[in-house]
Amino acid sequence: MYLLTIETTCDETAAAVITDELQVLGSAVASQDELHRVFRGVVPEIAARAHVERILPVIDTALARAKIGLGEIDAIAVANTPGLAGSLLVGLVAAKSLCLVLDVPLLAVNHLQAHIYACRLAAQHDVFPCVGLVVSGGHTSLYACRTAVDFQLLGGTIDDAAGEAFDKVASMLGLSYPGGPAISAAARHGNPQAYAFPRPFLSQPDRLQFSFSGLKTAVRYQIAGPGPTSVQQVALSAKEVADLAASFEAAVADVLVAKTVAAARITGLRTVCVGGGVAANERLRADLEQAAQDAELTLHIAPPHLCTDNAIMGAIAMERYRAGCFESLDLDILPGLHR
Ligand code: KG4
Ligand code: ZN
Repeated sequence: MYLLTIETTCDETAAAVITDELQVLGSAVASQDELHRVFRGVVPEIAARAHVERILPVIDTALARAKIGLGEIDAIAVANTPGLAGSLLVGLVAAKSLCLVLDVPLLAVNHLQAHIYACRLAAQHDVFPCVGLVVSGGHTSLYACRTAVDFQLLGGTIDDAAGEAFDKVASMLGLSYPGGPAISAAARHGNPQAYAFPRPFLSQPDRLQFSFSGLKTAVRYQIAGPGPTSVQQVALSAKEVADLAASFEAAVADVLVAKTVAAARITGLRTVCVGGGVAANERLRADLEQAAQDAELTLHIAPPHLCTDNAIMGAIAMERYRAGCFESLDLDILPGLHR
């Protein structure tokens, strides 16, 4: 069977065609980075309008790459939670309209669970049960993933997401948007021990929560002090930028790694899956590999092209298809995060 997956939760418009054997026949992603760069972050209204313009060409491209006609599609899956309300609506309306016209079933995708499922796709074998860590622009969450359709939230960030912190710190350092890749590139030449930035909750080993807001403020104070001086008024040398980037990245990686290992210890699960845009970070990947080796855990990190938003990971809907979890056409968006 052929599944069409649609993803419009944030600022990537994406579609893919996937078989019931989880073979990816075609995929297309239209990034909006250039539209949001000038604002150094995603502007929800601009994102929603861009999705409207791009959704049909992106679906057409995915079908063309798959060499599949629209009439051959057997089911449609759409990410309806969590995300930006206006963005989610565009994907949902497109999916529902196609389901109505083609008379095929509708499936719902939880975007965060899909990020974890990227590991299942890359592994090409079952990875459940596992601890799942999602580190993206909007979310930083740990799950006990019993099966592909049974995720239990263990904890998450109490303020900013890790990716959000990367984007905001990049802006402070005068680096371009999205901040993750820019910080990663700058950090390669920096000293991760140059600045002792905070590692929230590291002293509470059983607390499965994150906080990145204070870390962001610590970087701001390091650059411009706590007074009224704005970071834009301070000229940083290339070495300072590199050291600040490397020290910030190390602080983020340390807490992500420690809490993920703690989640494995607390749940007794021996497999760990990591996905989301920030999982593309080289330092985080290397630190996770080392920690998994030390704690004798089996680690799967989504390959970089499946870390940032895409529709391929919507293949998780095949599991819902098999479990008979179909949606009616009054399915709604759920923009918010369950804490
Ligand atoms: O998963 P994603 O594409 O979108 C959301 O669901 O939010 O994640 C985007 C986030 C952005 O904050 C971006 O800066 C971050 O992932 N990111 C990275 C890297 N590549 C993307 N963060 C750190 N290092 C990277 N190499
Ligand atoms: Zn995402």
